[in-house]
Amino acid sequence: MSKTDWSVVWITGASTGIGAALALELARGGCTVAISARGTAALEDLAHQAKGLAGELWPYPLDVTDAAACVATLEQIEAERGAVTLAVLNAGSHRALTLNEFEVAAFESLMRLNYMGVVNVALPLLERMRRRRSGQMAITASLAGYRGLPTASAYGASKAALINFAEALEFDLKGTGIALSLINPGFVRTPLTDRNTFPMPFLLEPDDAAQRIIRGLRQRRFEIAFPWRFVFALKLFRLLPYWLYFPLVRRITRS
Ligand SMILES: NC(=O)c1ccc[n+]([C@@H]2O[C@H](COP(=O)([O-])OP(=O)(O)OC[C@H]3O[C@@H](n4cnc5c(N)ncnc54)[C@H](OP(=O)(O)O)[C@@H]3O)[C@@H](O)[C@H]2O)c1
Repeated sequence: MSKTDWSVVWITGASTGIGAALALELARGGCTVAISARGTAALEDLAHQAKGLAGELWPYPLDVTDAAACVATLEQIEAERGAVTLAVLNAGSHRALTLNEFEVAAFESLMRLNYMGVVNVALPLLERMRRRRSGQMAITASLAGYRGLPTASAYGASKAALINFAEALEFDLKGTGIALSLINPGFVRTPLTDRNTFPMPFLLEPDDAAQRIIRGLRQRRFEIAFPWRFVFALKLFRLLPYWLYFPLVRRITRS
Protein backbone atom coordinates (compact mmCIF):
# COMPACT_ATOMS: atom_id res chain seq x y z
CA MET A 1 0.00 0.00 0.00
CA SER A 2 1.38 3.40 -0.92
CA LYS A 3 1.17 6.10 1.74
CA THR A 4 0.98 8.86 -0.86
CA ASP A 5 -2.31 7.53 -2.30
CA TRP A 6 -4.11 7.68 1.03
CA SER A 7 -2.27 10.28 3.08
CA VAL A 8 -5.34 11.08 5.21
CA VAL A 9 -8.09 8.49 5.58
CA TRP A 10 -11.42 8.88 7.43
CA ILE A 11 -13.38 5.84 8.57
CA THR A 12 -16.79 6.02 10.26
CA GLY A 13 -17.90 3.10 12.40
CA ALA A 14 -14.22 2.55 13.11
CA SER A 15 -14.26 1.55 16.79
CA THR A 16 -15.04 -2.17 16.34
CA GLY A 17 -15.46 -4.88 13.72
CA ILE A 18 -14.73 -4.22 10.05
CA GLY A 19 -14.00 -0.50 10.53
CA ALA A 20 -11.48 -1.13 13.34
CA ALA A 21 -9.72 -3.89 11.38
CA LEU A 22 -9.56 -1.60 8.35
CA ALA A 23 -8.17 1.29 10.41
CA LEU A 24 -5.41 -0.88 11.92
CA GLU A 25 -4.49 -2.39 8.54
CA LEU A 26 -4.24 1.09 6.98
CA ALA A 27 -2.13 2.30 9.92
CA ARG A 28 0.16 -0.71 9.39
CA GLY A 29 0.56 0.53 5.81
CA GLY A 30 1.58 4.01 7.00
CA CYS A 31 -1.68 5.97 6.67
CA THR A 32 -2.91 8.69 8.99
CA VAL A 33 -6.44 7.54 9.82
CA ALA A 34 -9.17 9.64 11.44
CA ILE A 35 -11.45 7.17 13.23
CA SER A 36 -15.06 8.01 14.08
CA ALA A 37 -17.80 6.31 16.11
CA ARG A 38 -19.91 7.42 19.07
CA GLY A 39 -17.89 5.64 21.78
CA THR A 40 -14.85 7.77 22.64
CA ALA A 41 -13.20 5.19 24.93
CA ALA A 42 -13.21 2.47 22.24
CA LEU A 43 -11.71 4.91 19.71
CA GLU A 44 -8.97 5.91 22.15
CA ASP A 45 -8.25 2.28 22.92
CA LEU A 46 -7.91 1.51 19.20
CA ALA A 47 -5.62 4.52 18.68
CA HIS A 48 -3.49 3.18 21.52
CA GLN A 49 -3.32 -0.26 19.83
CA ALA A 50 -1.90 1.43 16.73
CA LYS A 51 1.07 2.88 18.65
CA GLY A 52 4.31 1.65 17.05
CA LEU A 53 2.73 1.09 13.64
CA ALA A 54 3.98 3.01 10.59
CA GLY A 55 0.85 5.21 10.53
CA GLU A 56 -1.41 6.71 13.19
CA LEU A 57 -5.04 6.58 14.29
CA TRP A 58 -6.72 9.79 15.50
CA PRO A 59 -10.09 9.59 17.30
CA TYR A 60 -12.86 11.93 16.12
CA PRO A 61 -15.99 10.91 18.05
CA LEU A 62 -19.13 11.40 15.96
CA ASP A 63 -22.75 10.33 15.73
CA VAL A 64 -23.32 10.06 11.96
CA THR A 65 -27.08 10.59 12.40
CA ASP A 66 -26.28 14.23 13.32
CA ALA A 67 -25.80 15.96 9.94
CA ALA A 68 -24.34 19.17 11.40
CA ALA A 69 -21.84 17.19 13.50
CA CYS A 70 -20.70 15.34 10.35
CA VAL A 71 -19.89 18.67 8.65
CA ALA A 72 -18.09 19.96 11.76
CA THR A 73 -16.07 16.74 12.18
CA LEU A 74 -14.95 16.78 8.55
CA GLU A 75 -13.87 20.42 8.94
CA GLN A 76 -11.95 19.53 12.09
CA ILE A 77 -10.24 16.50 10.51
CA GLU A 78 -9.13 18.49 7.46
CA ALA A 79 -7.93 21.43 9.59
CA GLU A 80 -5.93 19.15 11.90
CA ARG A 81 -4.76 16.31 9.60
CA GLY A 82 -5.09 17.61 6.04
CA ALA A 83 -7.42 16.88 3.14
CA VAL A 84 -9.19 13.53 3.34
CA THR A 85 -8.02 11.50 0.34
CA LEU A 86 -9.96 8.31 1.20
CA ALA A 87 -13.13 8.00 3.27
CA VAL A 88 -14.87 4.76 4.20
CA LEU A 89 -18.49 5.40 5.24
CA ASN A 90 -18.96 2.28 7.27
CA ALA A 91 -21.00 3.09 10.41
CA GLY A 92 -24.05 0.88 10.62
CA SER A 93 -26.06 -1.53 12.68
CA HIS A 94 -28.25 -4.56 12.26
CA ARG A 95 -31.40 -5.75 13.93
CA ALA A 96 -33.21 -8.88 12.80
CA LEU A 97 -36.98 -8.30 13.02
CA THR A 98 -39.73 -10.88 12.98
CA LEU A 99 -43.34 -9.80 12.37
CA ASN A 100 -44.03 -9.87 16.13
CA GLU A 101 -41.19 -7.43 16.75
CA PHE A 102 -42.23 -4.87 14.13
CA GLU A 103 -42.24 -1.28 15.40
CA VAL A 104 -41.86 1.94 13.44
CA ALA A 105 -38.96 3.09 15.63
CA ALA A 106 -36.81 0.09 14.65
CA PHE A 107 -37.26 0.77 10.93
CA GLU A 108 -36.70 4.48 11.41
CA SER A 109 -33.52 4.13 13.47
CA LEU A 110 -31.90 1.64 11.06
CA MET A 111 -32.70 3.85 8.08
CA ARG A 112 -31.47 6.96 9.92
CA LEU A 113 -28.16 5.29 10.83
CA ASN A 114 -27.41 2.98 7.88
CA TYR A 115 -28.70 5.20 5.07
CA MET A 116 -28.84 8.81 6.32
CA GLY A 117 -25.62 8.25 8.32
CA VAL A 118 -23.87 7.70 4.98
CA VAL A 119 -25.64 10.58 3.20
CA ASN A 120 -24.81 12.97 6.09
CA VAL A 121 -21.08 12.28 5.61
CA ALA A 122 -21.05 11.79 1.83
CA LEU A 123 -22.53 15.17 0.90
CA PRO A 124 -20.06 17.49 2.67
CA LEU A 125 -17.20 15.16 1.72
CA LEU A 126 -18.15 15.18 -1.96
CA GLU A 127 -18.42 18.95 -1.90
CA ARG A 128 -14.81 19.21 -0.74
CA MET A 129 -13.51 16.44 -3.02
CA ARG A 130 -15.24 18.08 -6.02
CA ARG A 131 -13.46 21.35 -5.30
CA ARG A 132 -10.15 19.43 -5.22
CA ARG A 133 -11.18 17.32 -8.23
CA SER A 134 -9.81 14.22 -6.47
CA GLY A 135 -10.56 11.77 -3.70
CA GLN A 136 -11.84 8.29 -3.03
CA MET A 137 -15.03 7.45 -1.16
CA ALA A 138 -16.33 4.01 -0.18
CA ILE A 139 -19.74 3.08 1.19
CA THR A 140 -20.30 -0.08 3.21
CA ALA A 141 -23.63 -1.65 2.27
CA SER A 142 -24.16 -5.43 2.40
CA LEU A 143 -24.96 -8.47 0.28
CA ALA A 144 -28.23 -8.39 2.28
CA GLY A 145 -29.17 -5.35 0.18
CA TYR A 146 -29.36 -7.37 -3.05
CA ARG A 147 -32.82 -8.86 -2.38
CA GLY A 148 -35.35 -9.21 0.42
CA LEU A 149 -34.28 -11.83 2.98
CA PRO A 150 -36.11 -13.28 6.02
CA THR A 151 -36.07 -11.02 9.14
CA ALA A 152 -34.16 -8.34 7.16
CA SER A 153 -37.04 -6.06 6.15
CA ALA A 154 -35.53 -3.10 8.04
CA TYR A 155 -31.80 -3.81 7.65
CA GLY A 156 -32.03 -5.07 4.04
CA ALA A 157 -34.09 -2.07 2.94
CA SER A 158 -31.50 0.35 4.39
CA LYS A 159 -28.69 -1.49 2.60
CA ALA A 160 -30.65 -1.71 -0.67
CA ALA A 161 -31.09 2.06 -0.43
CA LEU A 162 -27.32 2.45 -0.09
CA ILE A 163 -26.64 0.22 -3.10
CA ASN A 164 -29.04 2.27 -5.22
CA PHE A 165 -27.53 5.52 -3.89
CA ALA A 166 -24.02 4.38 -4.85
CA GLU A 167 -25.09 3.17 -8.30
CA ALA A 168 -26.79 6.49 -9.06
CA LEU A 169 -23.85 8.47 -7.65
CA GLU A 170 -21.40 6.56 -9.85
CA PHE A 171 -23.07 8.18 -12.89
CA ASP A 172 -23.05 11.64 -11.31
CA LEU A 173 -19.36 11.43 -10.38
CA LYS A 174 -18.16 10.85 -13.95
CA GLY A 175 -15.48 13.40 -14.83
CA THR A 176 -15.16 14.75 -11.27
CA GLY A 177 -11.92 12.92 -10.44
CA ILE A 178 -13.62 11.19 -7.48
CA ALA A 179 -13.53 7.39 -7.26
CA LEU A 180 -16.46 5.64 -5.60
CA SER A 181 -16.57 2.10 -4.19
CA LEU A 182 -19.49 0.09 -2.89
CA ILE A 183 -18.42 -2.46 -0.27
CA ASN A 184 -20.80 -5.41 -0.02
CA PRO A 185 -19.54 -7.88 2.58
CA GLY A 186 -21.03 -11.27 3.33
CA PHE A 187 -20.86 -12.40 6.96
CA VAL A 188 -17.93 -11.08 9.01
CA ARG A 189 -17.38 -11.98 12.68
CA THR A 190 -17.97 -8.68 14.54
CA PRO A 191 -20.05 -7.46 17.51
CA LEU A 192 -22.84 -6.92 14.93
CA THR A 193 -22.97 -10.56 13.81
CA ASP A 194 -22.18 -11.96 17.29
CA ARG A 195 -25.87 -11.27 18.00
CA ASN A 196 -27.08 -13.49 15.14
CA THR A 197 -28.63 -16.78 16.14
CA PHE A 198 -28.94 -18.16 12.59
CA PRO A 199 -26.15 -20.00 10.70
CA MET A 200 -23.78 -17.65 8.85
CA PRO A 201 -22.27 -19.30 5.77
CA PHE A 202 -18.69 -18.40 4.73
CA LEU A 203 -18.13 -16.31 7.90
CA LEU A 204 -14.91 -14.26 7.61
CA GLU A 205 -12.65 -12.74 10.25
CA PRO A 206 -12.49 -8.90 10.29
CA ASP A 207 -8.78 -8.82 9.35
CA ASP A 208 -9.51 -10.94 6.29
CA ALA A 209 -12.38 -8.61 5.35
CA ALA A 210 -10.14 -5.55 5.83
CA GLN A 211 -7.49 -6.96 3.50
CA ARG A 212 -10.09 -7.73 0.82
CA ILE A 213 -11.48 -4.20 1.12
CA ILE A 214 -8.04 -2.59 0.86
CA ARG A 215 -7.22 -4.70 -2.23
CA GLY A 216 -10.46 -3.55 -3.88
CA LEU A 217 -9.92 0.09 -2.91
CA ARG A 218 -6.39 0.01 -4.27
CA GLN A 219 -7.79 -1.24 -7.59
CA ARG A 220 -10.52 1.45 -7.38
CA ARG A 221 -13.16 -1.22 -8.06
CA PHE A 222 -16.76 0.02 -8.01
CA GLU A 223 -18.05 -3.04 -6.17
CA ILE A 224 -15.97 -4.79 -3.53
CA ALA A 225 -18.04 -7.85 -2.66
CA PHE A 226 -16.84 -10.94 -0.79
CA PRO A 227 -16.50 -13.87 -0.20
CA TRP A 228 -16.90 -14.76 -3.85
CA ARG A 229 -18.85 -18.02 -3.37
CA PHE A 230 -21.52 -16.23 -1.31
CA VAL A 231 -21.50 -13.29 -3.73
CA PHE A 232 -21.95 -15.62 -6.68
CA ALA A 233 -24.93 -17.37 -5.05
CA LEU A 234 -26.63 -14.09 -4.09
CA LYS A 235 -26.02 -12.50 -7.49
CA LEU A 236 -27.62 -15.59 -9.03
CA PHE A 237 -30.59 -15.28 -6.63
CA ARG A 238 -31.00 -11.69 -7.86
CA LEU A 239 -31.76 -13.05 -11.33
CA LEU A 240 -34.40 -15.56 -10.20
CA PRO A 241 -38.12 -14.89 -10.78
CA TYR A 242 -40.14 -14.56 -7.55
CA TRP A 243 -41.89 -17.93 -8.06
CA LEU A 244 -38.47 -19.59 -7.78
CA TYR A 245 -36.75 -17.13 -5.40
CA PHE A 246 -39.23 -17.31 -2.49
CA PRO A 247 -39.45 -21.15 -2.16
CA LEU A 248 -35.69 -21.53 -2.63
CA VAL A 249 -34.76 -19.00 0.08
CA ARG A 250 -37.48 -20.41 2.39
CA ARG A 251 -35.98 -23.88 1.97
CA ILE A 252 -32.38 -22.73 2.54
CA THR A 253 -33.17 -20.55 5.56
CA ARG A 254 -35.95 -22.81 6.90
CA SER A 255 -38.20 -19.77 7.30
N1 LIG B 1 -20.39 -7.97 10.00
C1 LIG B 1 -21.01 -8.34 8.91
O1 LIG B 1 -21.23 -9.54 8.65
C2 LIG B 1 -21.46 -7.31 7.92
C3 LIG B 1 -21.94 -7.76 6.69
C4 LIG B 1 -22.37 -6.84 5.75
C5 LIG B 1 -22.29 -5.49 6.03
N2 LIG B 1 -21.83 -5.08 7.24
C6 LIG B 1 -21.78 -3.64 7.47
O2 LIG B 1 -20.47 -3.27 7.84
C7 LIG B 1 -20.50 -2.10 8.67
C8 LIG B 1 -19.69 -2.36 9.93
O3 LIG B 1 -20.31 -3.43 10.62
P1 LIG B 1 -19.55 -4.33 11.68
O4 LIG B 1 -20.01 -5.70 11.43
O5 LIG B 1 -18.10 -4.02 11.72
O6 LIG B 1 -20.32 -3.84 12.99
P2 LIG B 1 -19.83 -3.33 14.42
O7 LIG B 1 -18.61 -4.05 14.87
O8 LIG B 1 -21.05 -3.34 15.27
O9 LIG B 1 -19.40 -1.82 14.12
C9 LIG B 1 -20.30 -0.79 13.92
C10 LIG B 1 -19.55 0.51 14.08
O10 LIG B 1 -20.45 1.59 13.81
C11 LIG B 1 -20.40 2.51 14.91
N3 LIG B 1 -21.68 3.21 15.00
C12 LIG B 1 -22.91 2.69 15.33
N4 LIG B 1 -23.82 3.67 15.36
C13 LIG B 1 -23.15 4.83 15.04
C14 LIG B 1 -23.54 6.19 14.92
N5 LIG B 1 -24.80 6.59 15.13
N6 LIG B 1 -22.60 7.10 14.56
C15 LIG B 1 -21.32 6.73 14.34
N7 LIG B 1 -20.88 5.47 14.45
C16 LIG B 1 -21.80 4.53 14.79
C17 LIG B 1 -20.08 1.63 16.13
O11 LIG B 1 -19.54 2.36 17.21
P3 LIG B 1 -20.46 3.13 18.30
O12 LIG B 1 -21.56 2.18 18.69
O13 LIG B 1 -19.52 3.46 19.41
O14 LIG B 1 -20.96 4.37 17.64
C18 LIG B 1 -19.02 0.73 15.51
O15 LIG B 1 -17.79 1.42 15.44
C19 LIG B 1 -21.98 -1.83 8.95
O16 LIG B 1 -22.44 -0.84 8.06
C20 LIG B 1 -22.65 -3.16 8.63
O17 LIG B 1 -23.99 -3.02 8.25
C21 LIG B 1 -21.42 -5.95 8.19
